[in-house]
Amino acid sequence: MTKATVAADRMWSAERSDLPITAAYGGHYFSARQAIWFDALRSTLPRNLETRQLALASLIQAASQCAASPGHTAQPFQPTLTARKFLFESWHKDVLFHTKRNLILLAGLAAKQKGRALRADANLLADDLSPGDLVFIDPPYSGVHYSRFYHVLESIASGKPGTVSGIGRYPENNKRPRSRYSIQTQASNAIEHLLRTTANKGAKVVLTFPDHECSNGLSGDQVQSIASQYFNTKRKVVSSRFSSLGGTSDQRGDQAGRDARLNAHELILLLTPR
Ligand SMILES: C[S@@+](CC[C@H](N)C(=O)[O-])C[C@H]1O[C@@H](n2cnc3c(N)ncnc32)[C@H](O)[C@@H]1O
Repeated sequence: MTKATVAADRMWSAERSDLPITAAYGGHYFSARQAIWFDALRSTLPRNLETRQLALASLIQAASQCAASPGHTAQPFQPTLTARKFLFESWHKDVLFHTKRNLILLAGLAAKQKGRALRADANLLADDLSPGDLVFIDPPYSGVHYSRFYHVLESIASGKPGTVSGIGRYPENNKRPRSRYSIQTQASNAIEHLLRTTANKGAKVVLTFPDHECSNGLSGDQVQSIASQYFNTKRKVVSSRFSSLGGTSDQRGDQAGRDARLNAHELILLLTPR
């Protein structure tokens, strides 16, 4: 994969104003050829709601599997001496193969009981809890907003990347959700408020957090200390692998590889209201 071939893919893709995914990401997270497949499949999803959701989920998963970036889609690999082999590997992934395999796997899964998925601010949703509810909380631990890591997958979901810019191909500011949990000065208040509300509603909680100080300023010990103001706490520490969320925080720069995962310990807290 040379700089020239990458530049050619980028130039060709940028001119495809009728193919939004190709124009935004061709030559960056995906080769021009892969990006065209994403546009083709995204624009021909089935009409029936259930099969449409299944097909779209398969496509989003395929985008995650094929994206030329370490772990999350914060920044694509560049054709540098060290990263070009990762770029080559990603750009040669077969979008159709991955989409079909995901479709077969997802179609075989079914919940034992029909549920509901909501997209909402957890701190507001907590007001609707009832005594006896069990809440799983896996709060942000990054000091960078998660929208930075998910934007490519969100574009596949919506089919509308809009205008993107920079090396990361980020969307415009108003399409980058911000969270108090990823702002160092607000993260502690945000988790404190969530846990207080949850305890007042009489719900039980299972909460996971890295057992070390994280870039949003919170540590596992601090989260446990906040929780113990409102709950009886039981603590378990397990070995885990965390995403470095972009692959540079482990000091390996663009050599971090596709997974960019770090060995670490994860705290699991079981919280029972007093
Ligand atoms: C550590 S990740 C959890 C990942 C998830 N458990 C998974 O396995 O994919 C934290 C998530 O919380 C989301 N988030 C940030 N602020 C939030 C809020 N106020 N309410 C709900 N979710 C929030 C982020 O967008 C991110 O997806």
